[in-house]
Amino acid sequence: TWTMDSIIEDSVAAIREQVGSDRVILGLSGGVDSSVVAALCARAIGKQLTCVFVNHGLLRKNEPEEVEEVFTKQFDVDFVHVHAEERYLKLLEGVCDPEAKRKIIGTQFWNEFFAVAKELEQDGRPVKFLAQGTIYPDIIESGARKTGGKASTIKSHHNLIPFPEGVHFDLIEPLDHFFKDEVRALGTALGLPDHIVHRQPFPGPGLAIRIIGAVDAEKLEILKNADAIVREELDAYNQKLFEETGERNSEHACWQYFAVLPDIKSVGVMGDERTYARPVILRAVESSDAMTADWAKLPYDVLAKVSGRIVAEVPGANRVCYDITSKPPATIEWE
Ligand code: XMP
Repeated sequence: TWTMDSIIEDSVAAIREQVGSDRVILGLSGGVDSSVVAALCARAIGKQLTCVFVNHGLLRKNEPEEVEEVFTKQFDVDFVHVHAEERYLKLLEGVCDPEAKRKIIGTQFWNEFFAVAKELEQDGRPVKFLAQGTIYPDIIESGARKTGGKASTIKSHHNLIPFPEGVHFDLIEPLDHFFKDEVRALGTALGLPDHIVHRQPFPGPGLAIRIIGAVDAEKLEILKNADAIVREELDAYNQKLFEETGERNSEHACWQYFAVLPDIKSVGVMGDERTYARPVILRAVESSDAMTADWAKLPYDVLAKVSGRIVAEVPGANRVCYDITSKPPATIEWE
């Protein structure tokens, strides 16, 4: 539409003016916000932008490949895929405390990111700017944090960690006056695929905070496989509602849905064999802003399908439980 085009044009002009001929780096997470910034900057400054995708190994199944595909094939930017999976696993070994996990993951993100920036500068061209997908609600939330407000102290968010000593970038935050819906509309207008634009919220620390207790490669594999089934089945359920109602987040549509892996095992039976394996917890909520959420009243046949598929298709899982708690008093995530 005309307004979308003019918003994009204005943003592109502002980015060009701010950046000049300098170099920009961006931490690409695969989420909506950083992807839209990348797409905007791609249009504004092309190869002056380097997108750094730090793969911590804690993304959902197939996500790293999808991010790489979009930002190598569809947009003409420099794309660096940092394979940090092994380093993260090592750092997280034996760590059970949720906030400790968050801290490790956030700190290591910046370590990996600054290492790439340093390496880029080896060619003598400094990286002057850091582009970030900060949106308007983030600013409100970090304001609450700075003034000692309670809003963001319940769980820490890793994209607000200050730079270490000796590191400085000027910030480019082209989304800082937009709300989420506007960011999505921008993304679509810029040609980003639906799986990015309409991606459900996903925490920065990724699957690490959906594995209760210590993270290891085996648990990650179980969770990724179970989560892929949850997404496939509930995407289909949401799609059906969308076709019936014409609305994306209609009543009873699931807003966020995923699998959680608790740190226990239970007995089951498969064929003639006794199993001793992990339960998978299904979490699915209806919400509009994550501040409050209702557990989703999913039809029994959908629940049955998810459960049946997980125990049949995911080695290491022999039971499925459904979390029927709303927020408050529970949170959406388990950690
Ligand atoms: P809770 O679990 O507090 O989650 O009800 C509310 C929303 O925030 C997401 N979330 C996070 N996002 N880093 C993030 O970027 C985090 O550490 C984090 N913890 C929770 C969660 O997925 C939900 O959408």
